Amino acid sequence: MTETEQTGLAGIIVGDTALSTVGKAGIGLTYRGYDIHELAASATFEEVAYLLIYRELPSESELKTYCSRLVALRAIPNELKLLLETMPGSAHPMDVLRTGISLLGTLEPESTKHSAYQIADRLIACAPSILLYWYQFYRNNKRLDITQYADKTTADFFLHALTGKKPEQEQGRALDVALILYAEHEFNASTFAARVTISTGSDFYSAVVSAIGTLRGPLHGGANEEAMRLIASFQMPNLVEATIKSMLVDKVKIMGFGHRVYKISDPRSDVVKAWVETLSKNSSEAPLFDIAQGIEKVMWREKKLFPNLDFYSALLFHFCDIPTLLFTPIFVMSRLSGWSAHILEQRAHNRLIRPEAKYIGMEKRSFKSLKDRTSATSTK
Ligand code: ACO
Repeated sequence: MTETEQTGLAGIIVGDTALSTVGKAGIGLTYRGYDIHELAASATFEEVAYLLIYRELPSESELKTYCSRLVALRAIPNELKLLLETMPGSAHPMDVLRTGISLLGTLEPESTKHSAYQIADRLIACAPSILLYWYQFYRNNKRLDITQYADKTTADFFLHALTGKKPEQEQGRALDVALILYAEHEFNASTFAARVTISTGSDFYSAVVSAIGTLRGPLHGGANEEAMRLIASFQMPNLVEATIKSMLVDKVKIMGFGHRVYKISDPRSDVVKAWVETLSKNSSEAPLFDIAQGIEKVMWREKKLFPNLDFYSALLFHFCDIPTLLFTPIFVMSRLSGWSAHILEQRAHNRLIRPEAKYIGMEKRSFKSLKDRTSATSTK
């Protein structure tokens, strides 16, 4: 392996996992051995979250109990509501989630009363509530009453509490599929951050907070918001070609394209794209789909770069009437399942994660006192 390839830990195996395979020849993307396409076609996000955290797909009665538990765990404590009402309305929703979950860690700290598995369920259940309580308070001057919503799936609950109306069946299922595809992806940056934190013996919430901070950046989770802004910036599909080409000449990174592990395509992208096509048929903004396909065509022709999960997911969320600033937090709502499973896995076989660096600084030298350094400067 060359030095350049090693930059950013590219291609370096840093640990074992039984959770997923990413880009493995002949295997593809799997969660605990199940092909992602089968899960996206036939499972719900709740089944997938259960699979990741509890290691096997649930039976019918296990799923019923799990879903009821999640519904019951959606409500958030008053102290948390108060904090959300104190945060600025201009805050980035990722910061809101990060801070909200951090406060929850002081109210319901990991202990014999709140086990790691209970915290995993709690966070998956209440992350949408934290986000939407803050959002509705600032955008619509409304204190969201979470107990009003009995929607069975996370996707339906999120859309219902966001828009105030029951989602169309297609929208609910499309978001459900996106949550499945976002749930887990091996040692990506945010998952790795969570594993590093937990490897020090730290608590569950600290690991999740590290992961949220890591996911926030535009090279990782933040790419879906940037992709939407790009797609929406075009009035007509015929303007795409020249603009994207000139952005590439200017070395601008086109968000939602490329991937550290995948080299030819992201197996999640076509699944999302098919849902976007379906949703676009009932949307007054259908041309956005043509624009997105135009960008995809130019990117492949000019750079051999393909859309990653974030590109078409941006449009999927948009066609579900979700405001762009909530896109990356949706990634959190889903990836909490993968992070939780990795936290549990790291703990079960823990060794402190502590790599080494190649030193490129000054040679060893003698210390000069402040007096000597001052007289040396004044004689210059
Ligand atoms: N647009 C334009 N050029 C790109 C893009 C892009 N999206 N992605 C890579 N390139 C180019 C780089 O400019 C670089 O060109 P150069 O060799 O001429 O300098 C070359 O391809 C290699 O790119 P790197 O950034 O070195 O590749 P790396 O493996 O480090 O990056 C990454 C992978 C970060 C995902 C990159 O493709 C990127 O920045 N994409 C845009 C952000 C994005 O979509 N992130 C989401 C990732 S998936 C997820 O989190 C679900």
